[in-house]
Amino acid sequence: MPSFTFYASAEAIPPTGATPVFCDIDPATFLVTPETVRAAMTPRTKAIVAVHLFGNPAPVAELLELGVPVVEDAAQAAGTIGPDGRPGALGTIASFSFYPSKNLGAFGDGGAITTSDDALAERVRTLRFHGSRDKVTYEEVGYNSRLDELQAAVLRVMLPELEHWAAHRHVVGAWYEEAGLGELAALPEPAPASAPAWHLYVIRRDDADALQAALAQAGVESRGYYRTPVHRQAAMAPYAGASGPLPGTDEAARTHLAIPISASITRAQVDEVVAAVRAASA
Ligand SMILES: Cc1ncc(COP(=O)(O)O)c(C=O)c1O
Repeated sequence: MPSFTFYASAEAIPPTGATPVFCDIDPATFLVTPETVRAAMTPRTKAIVAVHLFGNPAPVAELLELGVPVVEDAAQAAGTIGPDGRPGALGTIASFSFYPSKNLGAFGDGGAITTSDDALAERVRTLRFHGSRDKVTYEEVGYNSRLDELQAAVLRVMLPELEHWAAHRHVVGAWYEEAGLGELAALPEPAPASAPAWHLYVIRRDDADALQAALAQAGVESRGYYRTPVHRQAAMAPYAGASGPLPGTDEAARTHLAIPISASITRAQVDEVVAAVRAASA
């Protein structure tokens, strides 16, 4: 699994009895590649976690060729179109987050798991209700992890909007390019033949923290989400030793900066952000 991701991607692993092993990313896409994953694999590798970070689709079809199940973390990628289909429909099993700020957000916490494997789907349904199929007999130790009915009701209203919200997020990426942002910073590189629904629009600059401060002065919020990659977090210390050096991860961690994007940001606002980046670069 990548270390350049939200901490929860890794946090889910130790409670299963498995050990997270961190691999590098390509800082241009922020994604794992078949090469970085292969370099971290051993005969004990049970699964690959592919994170579709910032909405950019990871190369799941190529990762499946490495011979172990691929778990997609699609938390940030609802609405993205990849070369082989949608995140959530590419690997062995996938998870989504409906945290309010996500591309498809509820009014509180929620999430979903998708899979085309009927047996896995049945197991997940059982686990979400305390490891029981009939609410009377308990086959294994599970969880209370049902989607709250109120959140489900909200999501039923939101879901039909996802396509045009996602399309807008994709268009905003094109607007940032058209407005000349690429002359001022490294822009995120979409995965080949993909149309990312950018959850976050994340540029790279050597002076990311100084740029953030200058943008704040101009009234433009920006943020470095993962300055400390997961393998350097205290809770992951027991597992970090299994990872080699991760230079792409360290570069992305140091240089990335998320600038404004949403399903409703306007072209004028995008131009305003680019003008603020330009002024901060003079
Ligand atoms: C990449 C990634 N994975 C996992 C999660 C966890 O999702 P949740 O907060 O719904 O548990 C998030 C966001 O919160 C995320 O961005």
